[in-house]
Amino acid sequence: MSQTIAVLSQKGGTGKTTTVRTLADALRRSGVRTLAVDLDPQGNLSDYFDLPPDVEPTIADVLSGRASAADAVHEELIPANLSLAEAELMLGGKMGRELTLRRVLSALPEEYEVILIDCPPSLGLLTINALVAADWALITAEAQYFALQGVEQAMEVVELARDSLNPKLTLLGVLLNLADMRTVHSREALVSLKERFGEQVFDTVIRASIAYAESAERARSILDHRPDLGADYVGLADEILARLPGLTDARMRLAGLS
Ligand SMILES: Nc1ncnc2c1ncn2[C@@H]1O[C@H](COP(=O)(O)OP(=O)(O)OP(=O)(O)O)[C@@H](O)[C@H]1O
Ligand SMILES: [Mg+2]
Repeated sequence: MSQTIAVLSQKGGTGKTTTVRTLADALRRSGVRTLAVDLDPQGNLSDYFDLPPDVEPTIADVLSGRASAADAVHEELIPANLSLAEAELMLGGKMGRELTLRRVLSALPEEYEVILIDCPPSLGLLTINALVAADWALITAEAQYFALQGVEQAMEVVELARDSLNPKLTLLGVLLNLADMRTVHSREALVSLKERFGEQVFDTVIRASIAYAESAERARSILDHRPDLGADYVGLADEILARLPGLTDARMRLAGLS
């Protein structure tokens, strides 16, 4: 059985796509068969993995019923581009519109242990589709003022999806991202998240560094570009593997990487 994780945030630029990209790298290096799904019309995840922009079929074709999910897998990624915006509009007028992603992903052959879904920066229909298809929700927050507010809004949508459409959905955790612990506002963001969400906040905090923009531009994983910084994501992957059932062996292999 695959474990599906939706990575979401109410705000833009909280590091969702970088998290999906780098977690996919870390999990694959520890032997976990991982599929990444780009569910954002911006197509950033597809760029970060350096897929050609005109690659087809994409997730838009899958959601529109023109292709199967299996046909849309390119190098262990289902890509997206702007055509997803149109597919989202079309989806809006259909019966069962919140269930479409779950239905198409469930038709995938059982070859992936983990499926990571990169959501767009809004809590609209695409993000709801991700939450209905997922077993787990991972909320990212930028270490800034108002981090708490953004996480609370995302949490409400997670609860809505759980109560109405997907009772098995569980919060995997809240990730504090782009943090500079030398600054007061990063420290305060962490304190307020811990006060509110306690153990649900990952111990691992992802440090801010300009190296992430460089590594995105070169479509090169931060694990290779700057392993010293990539260590944050190795720590996060370890915490996630500890929370997902049945992946203990991968934790040992991950430990061997660092
Ligand atoms: N830890 C980090 N430190 C500094 N910059 C980062 C970090 N992680 C990501 N970035 C940069 O911040 C920008 C936004 O990151 P990313 O695309 O991962 O966020 P996002 O939440 O997916 O954005 P969007 O909401 O637009 O989809 C990118 O330029 C990325 O390279
Ligand atoms: Mg993104």
